Amino acid sequence: MRVPIIAANWKMHMTVSEAKEFVEEFKGKIEGTDVEVVICPPFTLLNTLKEITNGTKIKIGAQNMHWEEKGAFTGEISPIMLKDLNIDYCIIGHSERRQYFSETDEIVNKKVKSALAHDIKPILCVGETLDERKAEKTEEVVKKQVLAAFKDVDRELAKEIVIAYEPIWAIGTGLTASPEDANKVIAFIRETIKELYGEDISEEIRIQYGGSVKPNNVEDIMNMEDIDGALVGGASLKAESFAQIVNF
Ligand code: G3H
Repeated sequence: MRVPIIAANWKMHMTVSEAKEFVEEFKGKIEGTDVEVVICPPFTLLNTLKEITNGTKIKIGAQNMHWEEKGAFTGEISPIMLKDLNIDYCIIGHSERRQYFSETDEIVNKKVKSALAHDIKPILCVGETLDERKAEKTEEVVKKQVLAAFKDVDRELAKEIVIAYEPIWAIGTGLTASPEDANKVIAFIRETIKELYGEDISEEIRIQYGGSVKPNNVEDIMNMEDIDGALVGGASLKAESFAQIVNF
């Protein structure tokens, strides 16, 4: 039985005062949920959010990390620094990082292994572009990303990874994959995990859908058999709409 996980990716949004206002409103609205709830704010808010969500159901994740523990890497944040704040999750390999910051499959793999080694659970993002979908290459692309990200990851640690299937053409566009299409790709990802680690791990690992998830489409998405949660961008920036999504 997989516990559903719904995560907010705030991307490059929110100031300290906005985040405090958000949590004040949001925490009371999700008290009845059985879903695991994660907020991934910018680095500048991690400390404040850890403090003000203490004692609530909200877990906190980062949006990125370097794979090294320390060193001359100006502008980067290490897993040790995240663990110092007791951060639970870290988004790794988001398509925006792959696209705008040249993150390769190899870099994603290094980050995944480093996060796991420091007891941070990766939310590993994979997904195809519109051209790749049109060329019917979705499965090929997603499989390549999954195999690369899990390279040399031990069985016991593999199940800690949350995979987020995010078709790039659905991110921030208002377009979503149909629940059936999303489920088909996610079932395929589960099959890939089965080939790598066997059925028990593939049945245990959680796989989210991301891409224009909103209060009005979340229920259909969450009702699909293989979809265990959502990674939410735009609709996670308002307490009201993110609470509606969590309480689908
Ligand atoms: O990480 C979240 C995704 O990029 C989805 O963003 O909900 O704004 O489409 P979106």
